[in-house]
This record gives sequence, C-alpha cells and structure tokens, in this order.
Amino acid sequence: MMRFLINRVSGAVLLALAVCAPLHAQTIKIGFISTFSGPGAAQGDQLDRGVKLYMKLHGNELPPGVSVEIIRRDDTGAVPDAAKRVAQELIVRDKVQFLTGVVWTPNAAAIAPLSTEAKVPFISMNASGALIMAKAPYMARMSFTLWQSAYPLGHWAAKHYKRAYTAVSDYAPGHEAEEGFIRGFKEGGGEVVGTVRIPLANPDYIPYMQRIKDAKPEALFAFNPAGKAATAMMKAYGDLGLAKAGIKYIGTGDITTDEELQNMGDEALGVTTVHHYSAAAERPANKAFVARYQKEFGADQNPGFMVVDAWDTMDAIFTAIREQNGKVDPERTMELLKKYSSNNSPRGTVSIDPATREVINPEYLREVRRVNGRLANVEIESISQAIKDPLKELTQPK
Ligand code: PHB
Repeated sequence: MMRFLINRVSGAVLLALAVCAPLHAQTIKIGFISTFSGPGAAQGDQLDRGVKLYMKLHGNELPPGVSVEIIRRDDTGAVPDAAKRVAQELIVRDKVQFLTGVVWTPNAAAIAPLSTEAKVPFISMNASGALIMAKAPYMARMSFTLWQSAYPLGHWAAKHYKRAYTAVSDYAPGHEAEEGFIRGFKEGGGEVVGTVRIPLANPDYIPYMQRIKDAKPEALFAFNPAGKAATAMMKAYGDLGLAKAGIKYIGTGDITTDEELQNMGDEALGVTTVHHYSAAAERPANKAFVARYQKEFGADQNPGFMVVDAWDTMDAIFTAIREQNGKVDPERTMELLKKYSSNNSPRGTVSIDPATREVINPEYLREVRRVNGRLANVEIESISQAIKDPLKELTQPK
C-alpha cells in the first residue's frame, strides 16, 4: 500500500514537472575559441569581455525554454594546430551548434574546413584574413577585413604625402593591409619608397624603425595585430625619433587600439588611422555601450574594437536563435546570418553581405587627440557607413 502511494506521489510530481517545463526545452551550445594564455591573451581577453558583457545584458533574451551555454576553449595564440584540436573537440564531444571567437587568421583558416565538414556555423569575431571564407560556406565574418581600412587610408594618405613606407606583421592580415594601402596610395598618385614585413612572434621593432628612418619617407603605414604589439611598435617609432624626423605614423586602427592607447603615451598624439570602431565615438549607441563597459570593467577601461566585434557577433547569433525559436538548423542559421543587419551597433551600422557572408562596415578617419586628459581615437570623418571588402569588390567578376 505504502509503495503504491509513493509511486502515485512521484508520478504526480513528475507530471507536474512536465507541465511546468516549457515544451521543447533547448540549450544551444556555442563553442567560443579565444586566446586565454600566452602573449596574445590581451587580444583574447577583449573578445571574452564582449561575450561576457553581452551575456550579462542580453543572455536571457531568448524564447521560453531556450538557453545558451558558452563553452570557452583556449587556442593559446596564433597556433593553428591548437585551434583545430579545440574546434574538433567542441564539434565532436560537446556537439556545439555554433563556433565563434578566434583572434587569429591562421587559426580561423584551420577551423574553417571543420565547420564545413560538420556543417557547424562559424562566425569570426576577429580573424580578418580576406580569403579564409572562400571554401567555408558555413562561415560568416562580423569583424572586418584589412582592405576595408587600409585601402581608403591609402587614398587619404596620397592627398597629404608623396612618399610612404609600409611596415606590417608578416602573415596574411599584414600582407593584405600592405597590399590594400599600396593600391589606394598609388591610385592617389603616391610613391612607396620601401616595404618591410616584420615577424609576428616576438618582434624587435627597433632595427626596422632605423631602416625606415634612414629612407626618409613622409609617412609610415603600419599594421600589427593590436594588443601589446601595437604599444611596442609605437614605442619603437617614438624611441628612434621617427616623429621628430617628421615621419607621420598612420595605419589601420589596430595600431592605436583603444584598450592600449593610454599605454602608448604622447607618441600616439596625431597618429591617423582608419577603422570601423572607436571608443571615443559620439554615437548614442556607443556612449551607452562605453558607459556600461566601464561599469563592468572599470572607469579607466576603454573597449577596443575586438570587444565590439564580439558583442555584435553575439547579437547576430542570438538573432538567429530567436528567429528559429531555439531549434537551430545550420542552413537556416546561415540564411539568417546573411540577413543580419543592425543600426544600433557601437560601431554605427553593421550588416552581413548575403553574397559573400562578409561584414559590411562603416569606416572612419580618426586622429589620436587628448580629450579630457586621456588619449582618444577621435573620429574626424566618416569615410562610409557601408564598405564591402574592397579586395573582393576589385577582384571578383561581377
Ligand atoms: C588576424 O589574425 O586576423 C588579426 C589579429 C589581430 C588584429 C587584426 C587581425 O588586430
């Protein structure tokens, strides 16, 4: 009799639980690969902060019964084998429905074939190499390509300087920055008097800066992968007296990334860059974003572009999950990502080009100035609110 009663009671409890639990309860797993250790951890931390802030402020904006689990994995730096291994584990063992994160282009290139094979949508939060998506139909990019900033900067520079030198990190994004700048600069009538490619790992910038100084260009175009590399290169430029020699430092926004800017010192004043995001931007959406970021991470902290690119990526993923009511299908996810568009990003507008799955960005001309006692990338001109990747635009037959 007793046993019969217990059975009846536990049956009732189970029934009550089943009624209370939302139909089709779903947990969407997102594999988030970033650099959490080693010299690239500063960049990886920027992506992490963007994800954390988004989850804190919007993590529950999902249909009833749907939740998101972020599974974080460390790729330890620009180490394609490590990135491949963690992506494989996320796909096979954790059965993630999305892959995202990834600071480094070589890592994204290693992950792309796995995304294709397993049909797992992979959205790059930072990796910017223009060619990594060519054979990866389940990939989309929410960050930028180097041509989007370097090519218009080349046009601008040709209006102000006749002779330029280029110095870039020696890997795909650096090569693309170099090529984009040179194309724009030459189209504008400028002359490139020298080019140098600097190793990505543990670079010593001093001998390169000496060589550049000796060549006496009017401008030095630079690209490095943001983080501490940006500060180190700026210091070498200052220490070797290039500014005093009248050589203007210009580049993609990676060289004056907002989270490092205060560490660069007065040498950064006047440095001119083109980029899709500045923490100093006056847009209301950005002011609200920066205020919220500082509340979370400290009043002296500025979000760099990688924080914003991670934030926007999360918004695109959440939009795709919501639109599918939590039952995500890779084909439908890709259709939805291709339609993603926001006028409310801290960068201004952002969308995905349905033809290429490539980000369409605003680009701003910025100059480092002192604002209220702090260095800031002040946006002085909007170059465009919607630049497609110029490399693809120039090289792909219409
Ligand atoms: C990249 O490897 O794609 C990369 C990394 C850092 C940057 C830009 C591009 O600032």
